[in-house]
Amino acid sequence: MEHRIAETLKILSDSDKQACETVRTTENEPFLGKKRLFIESYGCQMNFADSEIVASVMRDAGFATTADVDNADLIFLNTCAIRDNAEQRVRKRLSQLNVIKKKKPGMLIGVLGCMAERLKSKLLDEEKMVDIVTGPDAYRDLPRLVEEAETGQKGVNVFLSREETYADISPIRLNSNGVTAMISIMRGCDNMCSFCVVPYTRGRERSRDPYSILKEAEDLFREGYKEVTLLGQNVDSYKWKQSDASVNFAGLLEMVAKISPELRVRFSTSHPKDITDEVLYTIKKYDNICKYIHLPAQSGNSRVLEIMNRTYDREWYLERIDSIRRILGDDCAVSHDMIAGFCTETEEEHRDSLSLLEYVRFDFGYMFAYSERPGTPAAKKFADDIPADVKQRRLAEIIDVQQRISLERNQKLIGTLQKILVEGTSKRSKEDFTGRSDQNKRVVFPREHYKIGDYVDVMITECTAATLRGHAVSEVPVLH
Ligand code: SAH
Ligand code: SF4
Ligand code: F3S
Repeated sequence: MEHRIAETLKILSDSDKQACETVRTTENEPFLGKKRLFIESYGCQMNFADSEIVASVMRDAGFATTADVDNADLIFLNTCAIRDNAEQRVRKRLSQLNVIKKKKPGMLIGVLGCMAERLKSKLLDEEKMVDIVTGPDAYRDLPRLVEEAETGQKGVNVFLSREETYADISPIRLNSNGVTAMISIMRGCDNMCSFCVVPYTRGRERSRDPYSILKEAEDLFREGYKEVTLLGQNVDSYKWKQSDASVNFAGLLEMVAKISPELRVRFSTSHPKDITDEVLYTIKKYDNICKYIHLPAQSGNSRVLEIMNRTYDREWYLERIDSIRRILGDDCAVSHDMIAGFCTETEEEHRDSLSLLEYVRFDFGYMFAYSERPGTPAAKKFADDIPADVKQRRLAEIIDVQQRISLERNQKLIGTLQKILVEGTSKRSKEDFTGRSDQNKRVVFPREHYKIGDYVDVMITECTAATLRGHAVSEVPVLH
């Protein structure tokens, strides 16, 4: 419901940068004589969720997490390989860590995650200070690999599994606000988009037992969490089969949504070829399933989509968008991923990506210049023939259009009430809280007497392309 009030339209200067790879480190746990583990995570939410599995496996092996890298006995970098700059960042970090390691000879360094899987034992030769290399499906083996490394033997396990889902491991929530949590519902990817390294670093797609997912979500809710995000590279192809029972993604969403109307449910990432109307109707049916869909496009041109092996074309993508609008209305926020300067992309084809943005009017987007990844189908089949300056210019054009549209979409929310789940204190002012709306918009407002974990109705009064600002309204005004 929208409650419009007369409010001067005020636009804050936009200093928010485009989302890029984030880094998260561990916090201090009580040590109680245990060894100290520092984990730094790069890349996507799935990597952050994996670090919570790793912390759990290592706790059982006598390690407590620490935020103090200088005093750690063991350092894990949980890495990303999606673009070359993601790997360069890890390399830079490794050389910084080497300085600490030289002063502290017993300290061990492990490289985990997608870069470990991509480079395997080559990492030990390239980066001499690395002691342990472990791929995303081998985290149960970490205690053994660490023990071996403690005796001076370098340890590598990059075995990719067809079954591993870590379903029975209770993650240790790292950097937790106690309100929002991630739950991995599947691993791997079978899609083989030609630009993408994920199928090689994460292996075959497999879905996790729905009852273990449900139990994890119920436990979180009992502990006071108010929001769970179900994670997978392509959540729409979630499928669990046992004897004559089967659960698809729509079914799983419904199971989790039924835990409590007070528990918000989010999910990521949806794939345009697999997102069904059944999923859209399930989102519509439950108020606590957030009206927000991340639907990566990658390109707005059908020929480019074909050589990307995305298995849909522009028309298909737009039809899915039209279905979202038809079933969920304009109140459902949609975001995208877009790649600029894929192999052989012409100016005209690039303009199709711009026109797709104009047609859909996405709420926000994650936009990247194409980065060739060794061993992928695109690297084998096509020349990376768009010059770097052209890629950057096209990327800047895409970002410009998206920023304008994001701002316009947010401006439309000025004068509306948004239900916010309070996640924490704003980085810019201790007097303000920050949280997200149903549509996944970041909202900042004066904290008053509210608490982290509260649902608060906030009247939106200002915005940037990335953030909304407003004030809490204790009673919903009645419109005459
Ligand atoms: N599973 C998700 C995306 C995972 S990777 C999906 O299918 O949409 C996150 C994003 O990184 C992708 O959507 C894509 O936009 C971008 N990306 C992946 N490989 C890339 C590459 N080689 N160069 C540039 N961007 C890439
Ligand atoms: Fe990569 Fe495509 Fe799988 Fe996404 S769906 S992870 S882009 S291969
Ligand atoms: Fe990066 Fe691996 Fe995620 S390559 S984006 S951390 S699946």
